[in-house]
Amino acid sequence: MKKFFKYFFGTIAILLLLAQLYPRPVKNESATVSLNDIGNKYPVPANVEAVLKVACYDCHTSNTVYPWYSKIQPVSMWLGNHIKDGKRHLNFSEFLSYRIAKQYHKLEEVEETVEEGEMPLSSYTIIHRDAKLTEAQKRLLIEWSRSVRDSLKTTYPADSLVLPKRKK
Ligand code: HEC
Repeated sequence: MKKFFKYFFGTIAILLLLAQLYPRPVKNESATVSLNDIGNKYPVPANVEAVLKVACYDCHTSNTVYPWYSKIQPVSMWLGNHIKDGKRHLNFSEFLSYRIAKQYHKLEEVEETVEEGEMPLSSYTIIHRDAKLTEAQKRLLIEWSRSVRDSLKTTYPADSLVLPKRKK
């Protein structure tokens, strides 16, 4: 049995060491604020920004604050994939590059995912305890998102807020 454990953990240690040779993904960092940042057109009050920052921005902007363990494989790859996937669905740094109907729809999704507790991802809040939203923080985000949508409704004709149906 002792021998088994020696080989077992020895193998894991070697695999982990070898995994470090695997190149790390390019960091999600940009030196400047994009012209398409959501804050360049819509009001993002400081208290809302603070919540977005701790709970959403790591995966939904062009700037991630990396923890030390992000340098270690296979964590590095795993985080990299989450960020890529999160940004593909919603990137607050490029929000204004979406056409109006998509902006409107993404805000609706923000409200839904926050309401239902789907976002931030639970794999994230396990480690980032401060990203676990309180009821008050959820309400704050949802009401902010709604107010931005309301402003879109008053600015744009109703049919420009509807995404055309996509063939699947
Ligand atoms: C750890 C990374 C991570 C964090 C933190 C995070 N998200 Fe996400 N988010 C993702 C990923 C990955 C996806 C795409 C896959 C999915 O829908 O599960 C996604 C998808 C979304 C979508 C699109 C859903 C859809 O159906 O296309 C919205 C909206 C969203 N997130 C909002 C938020 C908001 C708001 C926060 C903060 C309260 C947040 N996310 C925090 C990773 C994250």
